[in-house]
Amino acid sequence: MIRLNIIGAGRVGKTLGLLWRRAEVANIQDVLCRSDESAQAATNCIGAGTPVTAWSELRPADVHLLAVPDDALPATGEKLAETIDLAGSIVFHTSGWLSSDDLSAARENGAFAASVHPIKGFPEPRSAADSFRGTWCAIEGQSEAVGVLRPAFEAIGAQLVDLETDRKPLYHTATIMACNYVVALAALAQKSLVASGIPDDRAMEMLIPLMRNTVDNLEHLGPVHALTGPVVRGDGTTVAAHLVALSKWDASVAHTYADLATHLIDIAAEQGTSPESLDRVEAALKSSS
Ligand SMILES: NC(=O)c1ccc[n+]([C@@H]2O[C@H](COP(=O)([O-])OP(=O)(O)OC[C@H]3O[C@@H](n4cnc5c(N)ncnc54)[C@H](OP(=O)(O)O)[C@@H]3O)[C@@H](O)[C@H]2O)c1
Repeated sequence: MIRLNIIGAGRVGKTLGLLWRRAEVANIQDVLCRSDESAQAATNCIGAGTPVTAWSELRPADVHLLAVPDDALPATGEKLAETIDLAGSIVFHTSGWLSSDDLSAARENGAFAASVHPIKGFPEPRSAADSFRGTWCAIEGQSEAVGVLRPAFEAIGAQLVDLETDRKPLYHTATIMACNYVVALAALAQKSLVASGIPDDRAMEMLIPLMRNTVDNLEHLGPVHALTGPVVRGDGTTVAAHLVALSKWDASVAHTYADLATHLIDIAAEQGTSPESLDRVEAALKSSS
């Protein structure tokens, strides 16, 4: 079993600790938080580990997971490297856009560095642990670290995909668009429905089946064939009417609608909408800008 220290045990630290404890992949050793209260809460949640608040109490381990907020990661790596001898151990974090290069202090101190980013939201540790199986995780870093972390993640049901270290920021934008931007679009659609006279408490309820069906279509058909609606039909008049209505209500939403429509035009072209039809949509977009 891997002897694991967890430094920063919030949502991700607790979830991974709990999963590895349950799967008997890791022996959870020290769990370092900034307060007694949160260190104790973390070890209670994981069901193992010694709660620690002082860096001087941290013991050497096979693997150190740094699960602190992204902004605190480089400094936390430096602190770890100052505190204990890391020769031959593995240090990794779970940030989406930072990489193993952001653990240079630990590497200089003899550690092998990596990052493993789970493409999943972790709102609450127990439910996140229960639904973790099948989660895609992007992994990059030194081969010695990847060689240990890959089987440790696979043992808790992760699906691993290799990533180039210098591509992490671009990779992370994809996960943010598929998650956070969908939330932004859903919220705009909800507000727009309410502005059109639909009761507030009904609006999201009406949108969810449509959104779920769209995700199902994306899964089964891919984006090119999942696309329906006025752009792929070449209904320029409809697009123009939408932009007039949105501009009267909220000009910034009209801009977002028009910006995204330009990407829909590319998808519609791939689906086979004629250039003449797409010209009508483009003309509607130009006349509104
Ligand atoms: N949450 C997600 O959905 C998710 C998904 C994928 C990846 N990630 C990544 O996972 C990492 C951890 O995220 P999280 O959501 O688990 O964060 P979190 O719930 O906010 O937990 C962060 C932990 O770090 C500690 N901490 C906060 N500020 C610190 C500082 N300045 N110095 C040292 N420790 C500090 C907290 O300390 P105390 O307990 O001591 O207050 C807490 O234990 C991040 O790199 C994030 O990008 C998160």
